[in-house]
Amino acid sequence: MQSITEIKSLRSQIKAWRQAGLSVAFVPTMGNLHRGHFSLVEKAKNVADKVVVSIFVNPMQFGANEDLDNYPRTLSEDKQGLAELGTDIVFTPSVDTIYPNGLGEQSFVDVPGVSLGYCGGSRPGHFKGVATVVTKLFNLVQPDYACFGEKDFQQLQVIKTMTRDLSIPVEIIGVPTMREISGLAMSSRNGYLSDEQKITATALFKALTHCAEQLKQGNKDFTALKTRAKQSLEQAGLKPDYFEIAQRDTLKTATLDDNHFVILAAAFLGSVRLIDNMQVDI
Ligand code: PAF
Repeated sequence: MQSITEIKSLRSQIKAWRQAGLSVAFVPTMGNLHRGHFSLVEKAKNVADKVVVSIFVNPMQFGANEDLDNYPRTLSEDKQGLAELGTDIVFTPSVDTIYPNGLGEQSFVDVPGVSLGYCGGSRPGHFKGVATVVTKLFNLVQPDYACFGEKDFQQLQVIKTMTRDLSIPVEIIGVPTMREISGLAMSSRNGYLSDEQKITATALFKALTHCAEQLKQGNKDFTALKTRAKQSLEQAGLKPDYFEIAQRDTLKTATLDDNHFVILAAAFLGSVRLIDNMQVDI
């Protein structure tokens, strides 16, 4: 595996692959990799000849009071895991490489519609930071395919919309969420949880599962379903941020005519903000 930090070296290797007629799949990450990330890399390996993974903790997507400085950085373990999976390039640019003129006057990409509400409502500016860095990374790597986890469902929809709206020639592949046996969705933020909190955190999965089952049984009393879910989270010791039932493709609030839903949820356990979602077809 090549470890690359500079744009020039990245471009020249990608150019050589292109000249040899090889396809490229890309997995953007912020590091602290777990089995969920590794499933994205495995998918990438299945669809293309070469796989590039980036590790970049993107300051532009963190709010002023969020955990940028404390975000877990585990570069040597990450690289070892990626090398074992057969990754071709790990790209680990510095903040100055990605934002050489600082963030103050950085041009940005804003994706209306799907960025609004849910995590976009709770974390203003977050998706602008995600869309901007992913656009930059796409321009650097110029992949044929890019893999993103369905765990960050709203992010996946933001990237799909942005790619379509800006005619970026890349196929976006959503990869199903990896879960612990308990149902807890794998996330870098689980590292902040004690063993006991990890058990408490499964309340999020249970609330989603219960809501999904109700929808499948034809219960479309969305207000009652959401109220009950929030109550169950509170009873378990979580503080719900949002629990919403949306149209899967547009993320607009679900209506009685809809049959393809995504239930989107975020809740705090202590200071740790957990997100998860479940797709339902009826
Ligand atoms: O999902 C993430 O880890 C990040 O939001 C991403 C897509 C790598 C952009 O920084």
